[in-house]
Amino acid sequence: MKKQLLIAPSMLSSNFASLETEIKKCNETGVDVIHLDIMDGHFVPNITFGPQIVAAIKPHTTLPLDCHLMIENPDKYIPDFIKSGANMISVHVEGAVHLHRTLSLIKNSGTKVGVALNPVTPLEYAFEVAEFVDFILLMSVNPGFGGQSFVENFIPRCIKLRKFLDSNSKTEKVDIEIDGGVKADNLKEILDAGANIIVSGSGLFLGDFAYNVKEFRKIMQNN
Ligand code: DX5
Ligand code: ZN
Repeated sequence: MKKQLLIAPSMLSSNFASLETEIKKCNETGVDVIHLDIMDGHFVPNITFGPQIVAAIKPHTTLPLDCHLMIENPDKYIPDFIKSGANMISVHVEGAVHLHRTLSLIKNSGTKVGVALNPVTPLEYAFEVAEFVDFILLMSVNPGFGGQSFVENFIPRCIKLRKFLDSNSKTEKVDIEIDGGVKADNLKEILDAGANIIVSGSGLFLGDFAYNVKEFRKIMQNN
C-alpha cells in the first residue's frame, strides 16, 4: 500500500523564544505535521514543555500537532494533552506499564495513537501492538536531545517492520514515523526502508528552513 509521505519538523530545534514565528514558518512552507517533543527529566534526561505550550500553539496553525510523549506515567497526563488540541499522541513502550490501556485512552478520544520504540527495543513489541495503533514511531536516536547522529540499525528494523505491517490487512494502513538524525543525505534510504512520517529537527531548523523543506520534498517526490 503506497503511503503518503509527510514532513514533520521537530520544534525541539526551533527558537523557543519565538515560537509563533517558528510555527508560521511551518505554515508557510507546506510541511505536513508539527512534531512536539514532551520530555519530563525522568524518562529522558531532559525537560521541555507540557500541554500548556501545546494549547498555546494550537490557535496558530491548522497543521496536525503530533505530541511525542517521553514521560513516565503517561496515563496521568494524556487527558491534558488531548484537551490541549493534540491530533496525534505517541507513548513509549519502555515508559508505559499497561500499554494497551494507555493506547486505548488515546484512541477512545478520537486522537491518532502511536507507539514509540527506542533504537534497540525488540520489534516484537511493535508487532504485538500494531493492530491497536495508527502509527509506530521508530526512534533512530536515543530519545532526549536533538542533533544526535542516526543509529544505523534503524534501516533493517524499518524494513522488517514495514514487511510485517504489510503482511496483514489489519495493519497495512499503519504508518511508520522516524525520529532522530534525519537529514537530506540519508532521507532516501529511510524512505526506501518504508518510513513515511519523517520527523526532523536539526535537519530542517539548522540553516535555511524553507530551503531544507524544499530539499526534503524534492527527495520525496523523486522516490
Ligand atoms: C529526540 C526527539 C526528536 C528530536 C530529533 O528525543 O524525539 O524529535 O527533536 O532531532 P534531530 O532531528 O535533530 O535528531
Ligand atoms: Zn520526537
